[in-house]
Amino acid sequence: MNSNSVFLLIFCVLFCIFVSVGVADNVKKSVDDNRDDNGETNDEAKDESLEVPSENEPNKVTCSRRINTRLHEIRAATRNQYPFMAAVMSDHDDYICSGSVVSNGLILTTAQCTQQSISYVLLNSTGAKKNEGGALAYHIIKTDRFPTFSTTDTDKDVGLLYTDKFPPEVASKIKISDYRSTRNLVDVEAIGFGLNSEVGTMKELQYIGVENRGFPIPMVDSRDLIRGYFDCIDTKVVTCFKDTGGPGVFNQELIGIVVKGQTECIKEMTSAYAVNKKLVEILPTYTFKAWLDEKITKNEEKDPVQLVTFPSMPTASASRRVISYQGTEGKKAGDGKKKKKKMRRRGSILLHFITFSGLFS
Ligand SMILES: *[C@@H]1O[C@H](CO)[C@@H](O)[C@H](O)[C@H]1NC(C)=O
Repeated sequence: MNSNSVFLLIFCVLFCIFVSVGVADNVKKSVDDNRDDNGETNDEAKDESLEVPSENEPNKVTCSRRINTRLHEIRAATRNQYPFMAAVMSDHDDYICSGSVVSNGLILTTAQCTQQSISYVLLNSTGAKKNEGGALAYHIIKTDRFPTFSTTDTDKDVGLLYTDKFPPEVASKIKISDYRSTRNLVDVEAIGFGLNSEVGTMKELQYIGVENRGFPIPMVDSRDLIRGYFDCIDTKVVTCFKDTGGPGVFNQELIGIVVKGQTECIKEMTSAYAVNKKLVEILPTYTFKAWLDEKITKNEEKDPVQLVTFPSMPTASASRRVISYQGTEGKKAGDGKKKKKKMRRRGSILLHFITFSGLFS
């Protein structure tokens, strides 16, 4: 290589950068298309300088937490997955909030839920809709609230609904956990009907896997809550998770009540959107367990028809169905395709860069 060709090479590189910056978007698109078709274009040299830097974009920064299938996920619940779930409905058949069956005819929810115009609960349903898919309605006879609850104090936002008793094949009850601290709690499942009316869809039972983060900060927020966060979620499940009253579940036991969800609806969450995103606040059961245990005991003294405890299914004949994860499979396949495409592109960039330098050697 003599000095002339070195000069020429430098000039060409600078020229190419200049040109490609101006037409960045178009070039990028057309180059992608062309490559998929025939793998060859005339202006390959131009796009190297613009493609290479765009390859080290910041996407990878925080997405390291996808090992556990439930953590950092939003999924639609399958039928029979949560046989203790109740949808609390108004007398206009509107969905109000979620609840958990803790005893026959006794449903745990938020106190705020009990203060609305509620009428009945739906059991055996993944959609919050009467007369659909085997959903069974039970009339609410009486409500109860944690004694110190007031509308300004959300610390003890705990309510109970008393309904007509149900036959044991209708629902399972969930056990109240004996844990006493949120310190060692990492992953929590929160379950609810999404409350996604703002995007005009049916409310479907769904669960989210969140990470307990953000311990109480003295003077700022010292409330004893499980604060459920998300990282790098990438979901197509329509969600709001605005609803409250649903359970926080760990190890198939009830560890809390969702007392705060989202304020807005989103159609889908992308990984870029959901970095360190707080999804829910869950009031731990140990803060009201003595009170609740007493209510449950009282309820069961009077009632000989006991429910089986989750994860047992309501009837002996109802076999436990295999939980399908179709959503994930679809997503994974998509990921794979994307990755492959990216790699192919990188490969061709390298190849053409070699061609380009070869011109001047
Ligand atoms: C629960 O719903 C299913 C339909 O999804 C129905 O076949 C079943 O009979 C229902 N259970 C009861 C106890 O009605």
